[in-house]
Amino acid sequence: MIVCVCHRVSDREIARHAHAGMDFEDIQFELGVATQCGQCEGCAREVVAQCNARHPVAAIQLAASLQDSLNRSTQSAAQA
Ligand code: FES
Repeated sequence: MIVCVCHRVSDREIARHAHAGMDFEDIQFELGVATQCGQCEGCAREVVAQCNARHPVAAIQLAASLQDSLNRSTQSAAQA
């Protein structure tokens, strides 16, 4: 099903990106979803939320991984 008519983006494409670990803002930047008329934003966010709900462990692992990377970057910057 097409979610974003302006950019012709389907729910499957949004789900594929969400399953790859991207959040809504990443997907919006990558695919252009909800960047023109904005009518698709609610539906697109719902698709992302459903994907995260189905794979909560993956979302938690991704968040932990990102936090770990951020901590390492902060430590490196503090040492420099
Ligand atoms: S339908 Fe997605 S920006 Fe218009």
